[in-house]
Amino acid sequence: MDHMSPEEFRQHGHAMVDWLADYMTSLPERSVLHSAAPGSIREQLPAAAPESGESMQAMMSDVESVLLPGITHWQHPGWFAFFPANATGPSILGELLSAGLGVQGMMWDTSPAATELEERVMDWLVGLLGLPDSWRNEQGPGGGVIQSTASDATHTALVVARHRASKKGHSPSKLVVYASSQAHSSVEKGARVAGFEHIRLLATDDAFALQPEALEQAIANDTAAGLVPCVVISAVGATGTGAVDPVDAIGRITERHGLWHHVDAAWAGSAMVLPEHRHLQPGLDRVDSYVFNPHKWLFVNFDCSAFWVADRTALLDAMSVLPPYLRNAATESGQVTDYRDWHVPLGRRFRSLKLWFVLRHYGRDGLRKHISEHIAWADWVADQVRTSPHLELVTEPVLSLVCLQHIDGADATRALVTRVNATGHSAVTGSTLPDGTPFLRVAIGQANTRFEDVERLWSVLNTPVA
Ligand SMILES: Cc1ncc(COP(=O)(O)O)c(C=O)c1O
Repeated sequence: MDHMSPEEFRQHGHAMVDWLADYMTSLPERSVLHSAAPGSIREQLPAAAPESGESMQAMMSDVESVLLPGITHWQHPGWFAFFPANATGPSILGELLSAGLGVQGMMWDTSPAATELEERVMDWLVGLLGLPDSWRNEQGPGGGVIQSTASDATHTALVVARHRASKKGHSPSKLVVYASSQAHSSVEKGARVAGFEHIRLLATDDAFALQPEALEQAIANDTAAGLVPCVVISAVGATGTGAVDPVDAIGRITERHGLWHHVDAAWAGSAMVLPEHRHLQPGLDRVDSYVFNPHKWLFVNFDCSAFWVADRTALLDAMSVLPPYLRNAATESGQVTDYRDWHVPLGRRFRSLKLWFVLRHYGRDGLRKHISEHIAWADWVADQVRTSPHLELVTEPVLSLVCLQHIDGADATRALVTRVNATGHSAVTGSTLPDGTPFLRVAIGQANTRFEDVERLWSVLNTPVA
């Protein structure tokens, strides 16, 4: 088979977009969760690549018959599991354009538009979310960059903190990382990968938030033991229960002790389009780095994670390496941003395109409308739970996340999760509290969800478990 000609691409591209539009339309009729048994997809696929090229029709036929049964429909209107991972029309089209242009935006010189659009849309987000103006690329000393995932951004922050501490002469083997026991697993993983040997996941208060006093005590204990406290990671909207750590109080401690303070707002960060929720993250002007995922709740498809540092110096110091083959006049002029120095990968996709498309498609008012609707629906679910004879909240809802349990105990709560997930029309995630108590999470934020879908979920939740 030869390369696909532009004419063939046009024809197959039209068919593919039609297929995707049909798929989107068909979502409400599909069962949210996959129906695959382990190995069942693999065994239908040949053991080796075909000797001769095949037609696009043959491939799409296999997509339908072999792959679709193994697809979890994250775009289904009944998606209340994990957190949303939205793939909306404008973001898919931005993704397509990025793939088609196929540029590598590793340096300004390898595609100036990729760098300059990214600098600009990251600054748009600063304004949209009410983040500190000093984080704007245009202004500095901070700056923003798109990373693949929140895990990568948190890892990057940990590497920078470690680099800064070792430049001050501290042995890496003595450095300590602190977070709450509710921090996302990417904190522990990132710290391990970054070479930290001491990771303290601290006990939380009744709302599952990190306690400043416990942090102070841990820092004092470690210092007394000859270790070197290095970095604290706060969560604004932790994954399990949506816990919100006291960012401002933690910032005062990190500032006093000279520690790096990174904030993980991977999910909740999108809600900051609504000024009335910004009280959840006070004191950002004392934070060293911050991440949130437009690829969760801001309607941009995966991957698109927004990462800011309050001062780019330490980041560039940790990440810059300039081999001879990347030297160019623009870099040497000092007038441009080379985003390869802002994270581990060299090559980088033109991800700002889809973010730009989404921000322009919805506008600020569209984003505020959809996100406030999700939060209002979550409040409605929480109100129903409060008056239900079968259910109770395990903690107050945070934004659009409601965590509940069955009053008959652990088995009944687990049975409820199973029952919702067997309906085919709704999916939720079960988890456990720090004391091992199971609970059920309702995470509202799928772009296709309507209030009727929330009501339908509620009708399943609100019936006695046999
Ligand atoms: C609070 C929090 N942090 C980090 C992550 C990891 O996100 P990513 O998949 O972008 O690494 C998640 C994912 O759900 C999360 O909820």
